[in-house]
Amino acid sequence: MAHWLIAGASRGIGLEMARQLALRGETVTASLRDPSAHDRVAAALAPLAGRGRIVAFDTRDEAALHAAAAQIETPIDVLIANAGAYGPMRQSSTDMDFDGALDLLSTNTLGPLRVVQAFLPFMRRDDNPRIVLMSSRLGSMAVGGTFNVAYRASKAGLNRIAQCLAADLKPDGVTVIALHPGWVRTDMGGAAADLSVEDSAAGVISVCAGLTHADTGRFLDYRGQDLPW
Ligand SMILES: NC(=O)c1ccc[n+]([C@@H]2O[C@H](COP(=O)([O-])OP(=O)(O)OC[C@H]3O[C@@H](n4cnc5c(N)ncnc54)[C@H](OP(=O)(O)O)[C@@H]3O)[C@@H](O)[C@H]2O)c1
Repeated sequence: MAHWLIAGASRGIGLEMARQLALRGETVTASLRDPSAHDRVAAALAPLAGRGRIVAFDTRDEAALHAAAAQIETPIDVLIANAGAYGPMRQSSTDMDFDGALDLLSTNTLGPLRVVQAFLPFMRRDDNPRIVLMSSRLGSMAVGGTFNVAYRASKAGLNRIAQCLAADLKPDGVTVIALHPGWVRTDMGGAAADLSVEDSAAGVISVCAGLTHADTGRFLDYRGQDLPW
């Protein structure tokens, strides 16, 4: 069984991935940032008994990330940088909440890279190590629409980071992809979204489980289909 790190597992797709992985008997390290989510995450990991671990960090906090990474005892096989936010209310190209947008870039664009840099030394290197950066098709340059500019820009930036990281880690045999989980009925996706959190999480897990180094540098959706950058 593999060891999966889910960064951002307090609710939504991250929590559901942790729950499904625990039911499969995989080893799971799940992160939260608000202690009030502890019981919910612990319930998801309950089937694992001693092989489920909860760590705490905000992905904007580099020191907290390194402190959490120092608690890792068994090498990580699959790192999913899932934590993300939607950003400020005012985020159009003609009316931007700039402080809110900067904070969103710290969470959505640099946050996943902080997670990777903190936990990379604790990944298994010799047997198909995989890094999945949770992106969105809204970050694709090929997808139209102009609403939620800060969110789109944050995920477009994350996609560029995914490409660079994939190239930089290619010689080490570490697989890196960007992944779109679908439009999902979570706090972020809203009730009108077309995909259940169970189906999205199952799809993401299936894609991650099937990744090989030949996939590095791809932008995939939860069904394993390529998306345009
Ligand atoms: N839902 C969709 O339709 C959809 C579509 C495309 C992409 N995505 C992406 O998929 C990922 C998960 O989305 P979701 O729908 O599950 O969202 P969600 O229900 O809003 O959950 C977001 C998760 O990220 C965590 N998080 C946010 N900011 C964080 C930070 N600075 N540090 C640590 N954790 C943080 C949250 O923790 P707290 O509970 O502490 O806030 C929560 O666990 C996100 O990256 C999102 O952009 C979602």
